[in-house]
Amino acid sequence: MNRRKFINLTALTAPLLSFSKVTESIPAVKPIMISTWEEGKNVNKAAWGILSEKGRAIDAIEAGAIYVEDKISCCVGLGGNPDRDGFVTLDACIMDENANCGAVAGLERIKHPLSVARKVMETTPHVLLVGDGALKFALQNGFTIENKELSIDAKKEYEKWLKKSTYKPVINIENLPVQVENKDGAFTMPLKFDDGSFNHDTMGMIAMDVSGNVSGGVTTSGMAFKMHGRVGDSAVIGAGLFVDNEVGAATSSGVGEEVIRTCGTHTVVEFMRRGYSPETACKKTIERIIKNNKARAKTLQVGFVAVNKKGAYGAYAVQEGFVYAVKTKQVDRIFKSAFFYKAPKSED
Ligand code: GLY
Repeated sequence: MNRRKFINLTALTAPLLSFSKVTESIPAVKPIMISTWEEGKNVNKAAWGILSEKGRAIDAIEAGAIYVEDKISCCVGLGGNPDRDGFVTLDACIMDENANCGAVAGLERIKHPLSVARKVMETTPHVLLVGDGALKFALQNGFTIENKELSIDAKKEYEKWLKKSTYKPVINIENLPVQVENKDGAFTMPLKFDDGSFNHDTMGMIAMDVSGNVSGGVTTSGMAFKMHGRVGDSAVIGAGLFVDNEVGAATSSGVGEEVIRTCGTHTVVEFMRRGYSPETACKKTIERIIKNNKARAKTLQVGFVAVNKKGAYGAYAVQEGFVYAVKTKQVDRIFKSAFFYKAPKSED
């Protein structure tokens, strides 16, 4: 390696060396359930009964999603923040151990989008249904239509946003102060609601059952105040979720556009296939996001979490603050993800 190459490489990796905190696991005993964010701990609990009774990973994923989608004060599901026109539009996807997958995007007024995605996977020749078509399909399959009122929290946030209607969405940067607009008018969502639940817009889940089969799912109301019709990574197989039963699985949270641009979770799984550990595979994918546009990456958050077939897990995020929950027979806790950019010191 010549000197110039070495200096360039050092410049690129220096932040990683100074800020990364290794959180990589020791291999866990099957079964294992992993979900994003603090709320993931409750999601894991909701899914655990199925896994501990030797049930299928795919059923555990759906149970976890139903739990969190039922929580009206959570940003996942119908309680989430609306788009710019005031509609809550949901994205979800699911993938099993046989590469079967299903997804819905821009689904309105249906409480359990991930269950609809599963129906798409199991009963249609398609992978993704959107908007009115997804709604029609849901109703035909026995899902009931819900009231279109916003949740109390979402209404409050939307009214606040309407005053300026700035379209500079900032999501999931946990290290910024709560409820502020910065000097550029960028809006930061409240970190925590009054009832203690957290404001994160995406629940990504991965499960490995006692048979060693891996499945995953994602459910979200998407980026707050997005354009009507915008679809994020959570409905896109290979972006917000990818499962390869020979290798493992990955899921993501954060700005979906960045995840789609890099085919994020597919990239993570392919790095694992090449022998990289889950954390390193996530890190190499995050580095691509940063390399694509460093200035843009500094102001956003994306986190990946992955598990390999041996049950080892790990995560990596653009910014400090991404966390994920793990449940096995021995472990039931929230882990801090390793990250590229350290949080700035809070001004308050
Ligand atoms: N990751 C969720 C979204 O971008 O919609």
